[in-house]
Amino acid sequence: MAIQKVGVVGCGLMGSGIAQVCAAAGFPTVVREVSGELVDKGLKGIEKNLSRLVEKGTITEVTKGEIRGRLKGTTSIEDLMNFDLIIEAIVEQLPAKRELFAALDKICPPSTIFASNTSSLTITEIATATKRPQRFVGLHFFNPVPVMKLVEVVRTIATDDAVYEEVAAFGAKLGKTAVRAKDSTGFIVNRLLVTYLLDAIRALEEGVGSIEDIDNSMKLGCGHPMGPLTLLDFVGLDTTYYISQIMFDEFKEKRFAAPPLLKRMVLAGWNGRKSGRGFYDYADPQKPKAMKC
Ligand code: 3HC
Repeated sequence: MAIQKVGVVGCGLMGSGIAQVCAAAGFPTVVREVSGELVDKGLKGIEKNLSRLVEKGTITEVTKGEIRGRLKGTTSIEDLMNFDLIIEAIVEQLPAKRELFAALDKICPPSTIFASNTSSLTITEIATATKRPQRFVGLHFFNPVPVMKLVEVVRTIATDDAVYEEVAAFGAKLGKTAVRAKDSTGFIVNRLLVTYLLDAIRALEEGVGSIEDIDNSMKLGCGHPMGPLTLLDFVGLDTTYYISQIMFDEFKEKRFAAPPLLKRMVLAGWNGRKSGRGFYDYADPQKPKAMKC
């Protein structure tokens, strides 16, 4: 039976974006966070995004109301009991994800499909916290979720063929291009993106070019929407550092090793845009100024 109702766990940047696109695609969606404050924050962000789409004339006020009507927030995991698909987008830590899915496994019917939005953890290892590894996939979205047109649909060696096809079809219903990836650390995008981002930091370390010149080179020379150092600030330096450690641990290849500069910036709390500084200073977010690294 096709997926009809969706539960999302986590209403941060990724979870709220996922909940928004599910509701916008017509799916009744419940999103769960650990506190009422975080639920409100996530739903307010969605409200702001939808209002911006109304202002731009992309959707009408009526459509916005319909999307909001399909979307509910909760703090209770029991409210996720009766869904066809649960998408997890919580903190990127294996024990937390395993604990969550073990709890969901106990309360959800055997038919519910579980999906993780992890960017670097092994889907198989998360799935073994449940008794339904055959109904477990990866659904990896990209930031900002409402804008980026891709979702990676990840299958493990245990994923059932019919379940996989159902989730791939669901990804397409969200208006995304659903690419198929194996449960290999980093899947397709991060396998390629992380090495590129780390190489940009190595180029800066070696004095090949300045922060602005490295960014302008890839923006203007290759047509990327953001240069690699701006993109690192956007994704989060702490996040990239964490992903690179997981990938290095898995593949033991130097290309995935975090450059010393990245480690030092994370230690200093320069985590990018969200912390006010990274490769750029965001004191004036409209006019980021290159830092001296
Ligand atoms: N939420 C919703 N919509 C947003 C948004 C957000 N957070 N940020 C921007 N938008 C919308 C704008 O409203 C605008 O819509 P419009 O074209 O209909 O008017 C459109 O996106 C373009 O925005 P702007 O004109 O303000 O700015 P840009 O043209 O610079 O685009 C960007 C912003 C879409 C973020 C673009 O710079 C971009 O594509 N950057 C690269 C992002 C990227 O690579 N993401 C993947 C990161 S990797 C990842 O997520 C995987 C993880 O595992 C690490």
